[in-house]
Amino acid sequence: DLVSLDGTSLAVSRPGHRLREPAFRALAAASAAAKKEGVVLLVSSAYRSYAYQEGLFSRNVEELGRKEAERVSARPGASQHQLGTAVDFGSITDAFAATAAGRWMAANAGRFGFSLSYPQGYETLTGYVWESWHYRYVGIEAVALQDEFFGGIQHSMLLFLDAHFAQAAAASAAKG
Ligand code: DAL
Ligand code: ZN
Repeated sequence: DLVSLDGTSLAVSRPGHRLREPAFRALAAASAAAKKEGVVLLVSSAYRSYAYQEGLFSRNVEELGRKEAERVSARPGASQHQLGTAVDFGSITDAFAATAAGRWMAANAGRFGFSLSYPQGYETLTGYVWESWHYRYVGIEAVALQDEFFGGIQHSMLLFLDAHFAQAAAASAAKG
């Protein structure tokens, strides 16, 4: 259900960005709310195919070496961008955090079901450096779960959910 962001109300860095329908709707709502406060949310990266992520990752490996490349980009097959629900905003640099859009997203993303995937100070947990610009649409209910039980840390919630569903699947397989 990927939809093109071209010709919509969203601000885009270039033509061709796409998102899954639920993420698109949530982002359109967030963007409209931000606009009312004079803030523009510029979409700089959204859905990526496996092939695109493969190119991006191998370019980073060539430029930075494998170890550094893995801190700033996901191996092909492992990027949230391949889900069609992750969005990078603005400059895609640390400077984004201090911009109006960066501050607006930090304060309001959760109201629209978006969650900061790689927070500052959590590289040991997430495997990635702080990315103030990278948000994943998880839905309002998941944000509530994340905030109530996992200290607002998406990655901790995802580890729990993975374990929970793996156990549920094993229990159901055992029953036959
Ligand atoms: N920069 C994030 C981790 C990605 O490549 O998906
Ligand atoms: Zn990203």
